[in-house]
Amino acid sequence: MAAAAAALLLLALLSASIPPPAVAAEAASAAPHKTYIVRVDRRFKPTIFPTHAHWYGASFLADPLHLLHVYDTVFHGFSALLSHERAADVARHPSVLAVFEDRRRFLYTTRSPQFIGLRNQQGLWSDSDYGSDVIVGVLDTGIWPERRSFSDLNLGPVPSRWKGSCETGASFGPSNCNKKLIGARSFSKGHDASASVGGPAINETVEFRSPRDADGHGTHTASTAAGRHAFQASMAGYASGIAKGVAPKARLAAYKVCWKGSGCLDSDILAGFDSAVADGVDVISVSIGGGDGVASPYYLDPIAVGSYGAVTRGVFVSTSAGNDGPTGMSVTNLAPWLMTVGAGTIDRTFPADVMLGDGRKLAGVSLYSGKPLDGKMFRLVYPGKAGGLAASLCMENSLDPKIVKGAIVICDRGSSPRVSKGQVVKDAGGVGMILANGISNGEGLVGDAHVLPACAVGADEGDAVKAYVSSSATSTATIVFRGTVVGIKPAPVVASFSGRGPNGLSPSVLKPDLIAPGVNILAAWTDAAGPTGLDSDARKTEFNILSGTSMACPHASGAAALLKSAHPSWSPAAIRSAMMTTASVDDNRFQPVTDESTGKASTPYDFGAGHLNLDRAMDPGLVYDLGKQDYVNFLCAIGYGPKTIQVITHEPVTCPAKKPAPENLNYPSFSVVFDGAMSGNLSKTFIRTATNVGPPSSVYRSQVQTGGRGLSVSVKPRKLVFTPGVSVQNYAVTVTADSGVLATDELGAAFGSLSWMDGKHVVRSPIVVSRIQPL
Ligand SMILES: *[C@@H]1O[C@H](CO)[C@@H](O)[C@H](O)[C@H]1NC(C)=O
Ligand SMILES: *[C@@H]1O[C@H](CO)[C@@H](O)[C@H](O)[C@H]1NC(C)=O
Repeated sequence: MAAAAAALLLLALLSASIPPPAVAAEAASAAPHKTYIVRVDRRFKPTIFPTHAHWYGASFLADPLHLLHVYDTVFHGFSALLSHERAADVARHPSVLAVFEDRRRFLYTTRSPQFIGLRNQQGLWSDSDYGSDVIVGVLDTGIWPERRSFSDLNLGPVPSRWKGSCETGASFGPSNCNKKLIGARSFSKGHDASASVGGPAINETVEFRSPRDADGHGTHTASTAAGRHAFQASMAGYASGIAKGVAPKARLAAYKVCWKGSGCLDSDILAGFDSAVADGVDVISVSIGGGDGVASPYYLDPIAVGSYGAVTRGVFVSTSAGNDGPTGMSVTNLAPWLMTVGAGTIDRTFPADVMLGDGRKLAGVSLYSGKPLDGKMFRLVYPGKAGGLAASLCMENSLDPKIVKGAIVICDRGSSPRVSKGQVVKDAGGVGMILANGISNGEGLVGDAHVLPACAVGADEGDAVKAYVSSSATSTATIVFRGTVVGIKPAPVVASFSGRGPNGLSPSVLKPDLIAPGVNILAAWTDAAGPTGLDSDARKTEFNILSGTSMACPHASGAAALLKSAHPSWSPAAIRSAMMTTASVDDNRFQPVTDESTGKASTPYDFGAGHLNLDRAMDPGLVYDLGKQDYVNFLCAIGYGPKTIQVITHEPVTCPAKKPAPENLNYPSFSVVFDGAMSGNLSKTFIRTATNVGPPSSVYRSQVQTGGRGLSVSVKPRKLVFTPGVSVQNYAVTVTADSGVLATDELGAAFGSLSWMDGKHVVRSPIVVSRIQPL
């Protein structure tokens, strides 16, 4: 993630919201040519040009070869390699809506290879044919097609509406696709153009110029969403069992937009969206984001722009909330037409114990699968004690072999990948590693397939081990590995790293939307990388265990595929609503879901509407639907002008004469934001529209829960009556909060919920009331 700092800088520059048309450019020191994404009002094409590509090549570029991608589905325009001056000229062209500099994005995994079985197998679907008519497109690092997870055994013919193709390239050809993996493409023009002007290049020694996955991430996410059953899936005995995706019969199409070690270019991501929608996918899964918790405005964000084009054509888009939790406002992928998925733990873990020379035993987690230490005690050292910060973090070249050789080494988490620290210790002659959390990681532990015997411990245990080393000149330890344990309670728990609210762009939309399993997820892996992803790791494995919101996102994508299959007429917003209003807020102890970083009850900032519950989502009773005009009204409400909005919608829009209230967006959750300067009792009323998708004659009654401290919520009417002729009903919610109480709350917020109940269904929406200033 070394390049992340550069991306962060760029994002920070770009987010100084320059109204389009404009060129968002870097400082004068920039390279003479860069890749740009140009949004064009396609109606301006002169008739003499047979296609838009001809027009773009002839009218905007000095050399048509500089044209990279032409976009024609999710929006209109092109990407090209341009000088800054030329980009400025292009921006002034009357048909050009906006010109943006291409940026680099990253995958949302914590690079913590591990292995485990999937969470609760959904019995309802395992034997059914649900999903076989649905196509899931995965924008990621490509796919390793030979895995059992992608077998097409007993699958019917490819849906006839499919227009995609199976690209030929390095170690990849038409025979790599089948009735399961029905399409595969790769997108690198933006990446290559960026490399031609000094950006990181695709390294063909370690990467395939084709949809073949050299990294493993794309194979993992695709098989999580829609992998077939693979019996006896495990690695080195950990988590043995059946691995399968959430929608095992759904069809898959891989869109490789990210390249090993060098990330994903906006221009290529957009090309992936454009192709996926044109090819006919029903669901798009994107475990990618800006990273570093910096949110750029919607019109500068390719995932927001690409997904707007997808969602308004009926394609569901699921994204990751990011891995920068537990800090507040770390959630990313914030657009209200996206599903934003945070990560929770599952009820399975891989315990290991650190046994100290003084007889104490400390509990940790490990996925180490090599030769065990057999109870032998080794010298225990903490290089950070004398060697400073780099040594405490076991950074490369920071460890003195004289101190480390033959010892178990304590390393602090942070700054470098966890598995790399293990390699550093091993290279310096260490026999084992204890990886200690810092305060910011709390007690959240992720297991890794370390290259040497290693164990992750929480911050408290880490402090205890370090205190022991300080107090004893002859400190010793060993690590005992205990394999796989299932039935862990509590579960789920919100993962420490999962991106948290509030929403930094539009606080009136609660994000994340929900959480799904994202810790210790077993899924298929590439043969081109070892389980740690380290260059030095030559091990090969069919399955691997990863953690991250990257792993949570495809769970929601697979769930969306099953919902789409069961309810073909539902819009993407209705599918998201069904998942959100049925999400669980209790764990397997029947107590409120807790937060790994604090051990306390989670709030909607941590888990949105709660934890995905697929069985209940099939039959939600009511849904909150949304369409194009709702999103336009929302963008008007947050202050975007028609020209800015057109960059997203690629069709002319008009904002209502009276500015809409953002809270009126018909979202399945409520986030009510009051001006921080106001005092006294604050009150707001807003409208929701519920659509009955259950039995035609139903009567729902409302139930409100609030924390009780200075917050009251009233609903009008309190009863919604649906009949065969009336399937849509409006209601008004009034929220009143005492500003004094909000001001003294730690999070500056109060929480509650509103549920509509008909005796069978519970349609629950979280309520967040806050006083943060709109950004
Ligand atoms: C490409 O990767 C190989 C293997 O890791 C490495 O030895 C080589 O230096 C890389 N080439 C470039 C140009 O980075
Ligand atoms: C807010 O309303 C409550 C209940 O009606 C009342 O007790 C309280 O005094 C009010 N606070 C302010 C600041 O007006």
